[in-house]
Amino acid sequence: MQKIEKYYLSYRQIHETVKQLARRIEAAGFDPDLIVAIGTGGFIPARILKTFINRPLFAVGISYYGLDNVPKATPQTIQWIDEVERKLSGKRVLLVDEVDDSRVTLEYCLKELLSHKPEEIAVMVLHNKNKEKRGKLPKDVRLYFAGRQMEDRWICYPWDAEDIASHEDHCTANVFR
Ligand code: G4P
Ligand code: MG
Repeated sequence: MQKIEKYYLSYRQIHETVKQLARRIEAAGFDPDLIVAIGTGGFIPARILKTFINRPLFAVGISYYGLDNVPKATPQTIQWIDEVERKLSGKRVLLVDEVDDSRVTLEYCLKELLSHKPEEIAVMVLHNKNKEKRGKLPKDVRLYFAGRQMEDRWICYPWDAEDIASHEDHCTANVFR
């Protein structure tokens, strides 16, 4: 079998992963008041999720990489909407990102959001990489949903593709489904 160096995922696969996640979140009895996307990777998954769980959608921008693409010592807040903070208190929040990698960004974001006293925060990621995590999920986070468990390889998302046709060809050729 061909060794997979990278995973290429199509919009269709991602849509299906989000749909399954929405079902699992519903089955777990978690009914969020609002969805918060971590930009930029969480934007498109969160919007697809809204098709299945139709709640107000907010976004925060946090990045671990600077504009020069070099990782920072800690995640940086790119954009943080005061509106988000005001809307959090007493609410059930579903935090959405595309990938749980080192978990550093996720931990940073969860701690920020928890400081605004939501009733509950659940996490949804499309993909969790099975690896040692440098970040930790705060203990107040009881619900964590990952669409798929992945080996620690680079995942190519369709929204990063400059040539979507060739990206889709890679998805078809991928042994991974
Ligand atoms: P985590 O807490 O969610 O695990 O994120 P971590 O800080 O480890 O991730 C650093 C950045 O690397 C994130 O982007 C994340 O989306 C990106 N990343 C990690 N693994 C992969 C991968 O396999 N494929 C792709 N395409 N990206 C990956 P960011 O700096 O927050 O910015 P943005 O890309 O979301 O805008
Ligand atoms: Mg991201």
